[in-house]
Amino acid sequence: MYQSHLSLPTYTPPAVLFQGKMVQNSSMVHKERGVGMFITRRFTRTVCQTKVPRNANLEKLQNGYLFPEISRHEFEHIRKHPDAKLISLGIGDTTEPIPDIITLDMAAHSRALSTAEGYRGYGAEQGNKELRKAITETVYRDVGVKDTEVFISDGAQCDISRIQLLLGSNVTMAVQDPSFPGYVDSSVIMGRTGEFQEVTGKYANIEYMKCGPENDFFPDLSTTPRTDIIFFVSPNNPTGYAASRDQLEKLVEFAKKNGSIIIYDAAYAAYISDDSPRSIFEIPGAREVAIEISSFSKFAGFTGVRLGWTVVPEELVFSNGFPVIKDFDRIVCTSFNGASNISQAGGLACLSPEGYKAIQGLIDFYRENMKIMVETFESLGLKVYGGKNAPYLWVHFPGSSSWDIFRMILEKTHIITIPGTGFGPGGEGYIRVSALGHRKCILEASKRLTNLFK
Ligand code: MLT
Repeated sequence: MYQSHLSLPTYTPPAVLFQGKMVQNSSMVHKERGVGMFITRRFTRTVCQTKVPRNANLEKLQNGYLFPEISRHEFEHIRKHPDAKLISLGIGDTTEPIPDIITLDMAAHSRALSTAEGYRGYGAEQGNKELRKAITETVYRDVGVKDTEVFISDGAQCDISRIQLLLGSNVTMAVQDPSFPGYVDSSVIMGRTGEFQEVTGKYANIEYMKCGPENDFFPDLSTTPRTDIIFFVSPNNPTGYAASRDQLEKLVEFAKKNGSIIIYDAAYAAYISDDSPRSIFEIPGAREVAIEISSFSKFAGFTGVRLGWTVVPEELVFSNGFPVIKDFDRIVCTSFNGASNISQAGGLACLSPEGYKAIQGLIDFYRENMKIMVETFESLGLKVYGGKNAPYLWVHFPGSSSWDIFRMILEKTHIITIPGTGFGPGGEGYIRVSALGHRKCILEASKRLTNLFK
């Protein structure tokens, strides 16, 4: 029988030193989640308050970050149903082991750190030169990205925040609706947005570009106002839709006309199975208007290892003519000491011919999961998008609240999904289903969903 990947240790709150006495800190409830932990929203009762005002931008945020919030539901559900075999198709976390051709290189690198010859301390903030070169030669083989334009990171999400530091609070922005919540939340924290508006489900001062089946998941640029920055993820998280060449040409043209910068997130590019571009730099002219973020997380199962990269082309300049790459380099040197050298050894192994082949095997495995889940929903008469160029399915429940559907599926099948509105108001009526689970979980989920909706 399948097993949930969750294990829930009994938790005793840690003892803390408070006013000279050891006391149990009941204000925090931690739970190991395999990849993280969360803290409940209760606050520590305190006697001595500081005089430091809370960051007003953080006060604007509506909820906790989406994925820990989903974990909270998961945790509460397990508390209520301790015997249920919970299946998590929520956060897009990889589950298949990393091929040993990659981990053996990481292990060798790690072992060498215990030798006088192999020991290494700080590396270049921008990353290992060999890895930067390997990325240009494999991922960007035909598009002319230089190794000096590639900055190795500890993951795409971390670079989203560094890019926010680069751009500052004084720029205007647009974002696909729905899209990965990291763009909006980090923009709010940066102080670039106004207050959250309950009625619309949007923050003021953000241009939400609606992307749904009615517009082929591509914004109507003829009615989109100019903004300085355009966050664009393709294949899209959550809808799984990969923008076509024609659509990306329109986007680049739009950015050029408006003098905007596209922050292009290509974290799921390795899952593209048709002729959609895998990089914005396949589009002529993109080097003058785009930064691309990418990641080894979904590409090689590195969600826990942590490794990604960002490409900033030399041609990209600010309105005063200053090269963006120089400022990004400054940000990276100031706020980051470079990715772990062990992760980078793993990254290099992923890009060797054998490593690359092994990774394709992993991606093919998840593609089979995607197919099983798409067929499941379609056989139940539900309209499902995605699941072809990204490991996410975007399932439509017209007229329903996405949170109601999420709760109903959880209550009745013990399956965690993600409510569409977690990705923006445009996600109402949808849920996102991850196909990155173990095969036995995917098959069991398919059975339970069939029983529920048939
Ligand atoms: C997702 O589930 O959308 C992402 O994998 C979460 C993340 O990258 O942080």
